[in-house]
Amino acid sequence: MKHDVTNLKLAAAGQKRIDWAERQMDVLRLIHQRFARQRPLQGVRVACCLHVTTETAVLASTLKAGGAQVVVCASNPLSTQDDTAAALVTYHRIPVFARKGENRAVYYRHLNTALDTKPHLTMDDGADLVSLLHAKRPAQAVSVWGSTEETTTGVVRLRSMERHGVLRFPVIAVNDSKTKHFFDNRYGTGQSTIDGLLRATNVLLAGKTFVVAGYGFCGKGVATRARGMGAHVIVTEVDPVRALEANLDGFQVMSMAQAASHGDIFVTVTGNASVIRPEHVARMKRGAIIGNSGHFDVEIDMPAITRRARRSFVVRPFVRAYEFAGGRTIYLIAEGRLLNLVAAEGHPAAVMDMSFANQALAAEYVVKHHRTLEHRVYTLPEALDQTIARLKLRVLGLTIDTLTLAQRRYLAGWQQGT
Ligand code: ADE
Repeated sequence: MKHDVTNLKLAAAGQKRIDWAERQMDVLRLIHQRFARQRPLQGVRVACCLHVTTETAVLASTLKAGGAQVVVCASNPLSTQDDTAAALVTYHRIPVFARKGENRAVYYRHLNTALDTKPHLTMDDGADLVSLLHAKRPAQAVSVWGSTEETTTGVVRLRSMERHGVLRFPVIAVNDSKTKHFFDNRYGTGQSTIDGLLRATNVLLAGKTFVVAGYGFCGKGVATRARGMGAHVIVTEVDPVRALEANLDGFQVMSMAQAASHGDIFVTVTGNASVIRPEHVARMKRGAIIGNSGHFDVEIDMPAITRRARRSFVVRPFVRAYEFAGGRTIYLIAEGRLLNLVAAEGHPAAVMDMSFANQALAAEYVVKHHRTLEHRVYTLPEALDQTIARLKLRVLGLTIDTLTLAQRRYLAGWQQGT
């Protein structure tokens, strides 16, 4: 079996961590058991371009249990857990093409290798596989049954492809399931971003001014968790409704130009480019820390900032100092790539459980329905979202109420008023 991972000797350590993650992924375990019985993916070739983490390993083995032939490559050059990659190859016999720290050329070589397996189904986190298929391998794109997409940024790219009429197969926007973005984006990104920041820097958050750029679900999570650690939180936004929401949630709201001189720590989670620019960095305090938890490394304009710096050097793992004229220094975490996956381990398994339950059911859905789906971006049917929520409640041991007949009639009617 071909593969390209950093070190197979890490496999045993990786498998222990996969086992640990699996214990917290009860919904996916139930799906795994059903897949093993029913084999809904029998003979289906699946190429997964995801962050290579312990949680992704649990998903990949679930797909394999369902009968799929799975290949895995990384959706980010820095997020791969090398021990997990080794364990997938050694113990799960799943080919992996991913090394933490791979350069851009190797990253794309790995994506191409995954596509060389001629997948029926692709699974993306950021839409790089779909984009590569359409841009460089269009003849192959027409033979793909469909794809699934994990993240907001990927869905934005795919909807742009749909609008431009270039999408060659249907895509399920897993991100848009409620049981994905309500939980993964908010509680996952919230916790894992603080985790990455602390592992990289070990700074005290209490009393610090913490600037969060973007108040989508990810921004809400980061702002709430930073406040929970005792930081004063400022939110910057471009959307007036989200800005108001942040204000009424109790956060200070201002422009990045204003926030720049107040912040001790800056985290971008906007999904957009050049949110922190040289003119902002020029106003920052000595020792300010900047990082990003958005999907791509474009939110902090590092090329422009680097050009203005006198020099840069690594001060500890995943922390690079940029020194400017006069000796003022600021610190960048994880080279501006998503710090929650680079400096920590990504979202906790208990939240990825729901995200990847959506992925597994989306894969099954595409296999069942691809012949009747159009070349569009779909969300999973509401009923499957509800099923995942109910399963999660069940494994958490939580009971909820059921509508009585009278309540159902009341909701369905219009006559009864004041
Ligand atoms: N995205 C964010 N956290 C993740 C994780 N733990 N595994 C895979 N993808 C992720």
